[in-house]
Amino acid sequence: MAKEVGNKKRTKQNKGKKEPQIETIRRQAMKDISKATDKTIEEVRVSYLGRKGTITSILKDIKNLEPAKRPAIGQKANKLRQDIEKAIKTRIQTISVDTYILPDEIDVSLPGRKVHLGSKHVITQIIEEIVGIFGELGYSMVETGEVETAYYNFMALNTPLDHPACTLQATFYIDRDVKDEKEKVLLRTHTSPAQIRVMKEKKPPLYVIVPGKVYRPDVPDPTHSPMFHQVEGFAIDKDITFGDLKGTLEVFCEKMFGAGRKVRFRPHYFPFTEPSAEVDVSCIRCGGEGCRVCSQTGWLEILGAGIIDPNVLEEVGYDPDDLTGFAFGMAPDRIAMLKYDISDIRMFFENDIRFLEQF
Ligand code: DAH
Repeated sequence: MAKEVGNKKRTKQNKGKKEPQIETIRRQAMKDISKATDKTIEEVRVSYLGRKGTITSILKDIKNLEPAKRPAIGQKANKLRQDIEKAIKTRIQTISVDTYILPDEIDVSLPGRKVHLGSKHVITQIIEEIVGIFGELGYSMVETGEVETAYYNFMALNTPLDHPACTLQATFYIDRDVKDEKEKVLLRTHTSPAQIRVMKEKKPPLYVIVPGKVYRPDVPDPTHSPMFHQVEGFAIDKDITFGDLKGTLEVFCEKMFGAGRKVRFRPHYFPFTEPSAEVDVSCIRCGGEGCRVCSQTGWLEILGAGIIDPNVLEEVGYDPDDLTGFAFGMAPDRIAMLKYDISDIRMFFENDIRFLEQF
């Protein structure tokens, strides 16, 4: 009875229930969805598709509609449910992008973010410049090892091991505990051993340029670093004279330091060249008048050079009566210091970006 009453009641209540305004609901739903944020979209979904949501209720109530209207309304309501699901999905995708780039969160007045491009180390730039100039003159670049033996670093270069350059104060030894003193292992103190290595390996004529790191146990100060760089150059051919050396270095200095540079040779001594010279270039700052950079002398010392000693040629099996050669060595670190007026060699190797990025 109760059941009957209840049924009757419901039938009575729902009879001719107003059919739902699907199109109105659709408009409202689409409006709600399009306004929803990442915080409210779930609320919107529940309000339409949740257990007690508008669409769910319509579908539940279909059975209470006049039978003739049920299929059409059912179809429309189902279609709307699908459309709402789709619209919510799309909206979620849009807002998850928006959360990262909300238009009003971009402050267009801010300066752009710089892409920080690195640059070549200033010493590398100088070395490439030097090697490039000699490349134009027909020289080939060669690199040899930083760990050498006493034979290549000293003895083959006409420097007996009792020379002051070979002492512990002047050379980093890695292994001195060897039977044959030629085999003592050390960090090369100059790039000159490359002369021996190349001459032993290759046949003349040779026109070679050798950049690289060298090591000496110097206490670091503004003009000394236990590691620094050298560029060695040498030429071996028939009838090479001191005039060829002068001409070559004059061309180099003009190209490296600018037209009109004067070059001056002062007699000097190196064990592996005879005669030997120190080479000065007219001051790249004042042009020769005298300034702070050249200590008022008008000249800057930039190279050691000379005619390769016949003893060295014989050591590698060349005939000094048939072949002659010249050699020179320079320090790109010093050239960079002069060129850019840098007062402390240590700055090159401290890796302070604020210093390095200026070049
Ligand atoms: N090796 C010398 C040094 O370290 C520089 C040098 C001088 C190299 C004269 C040469 C040369 O090739 O001929 O001080």
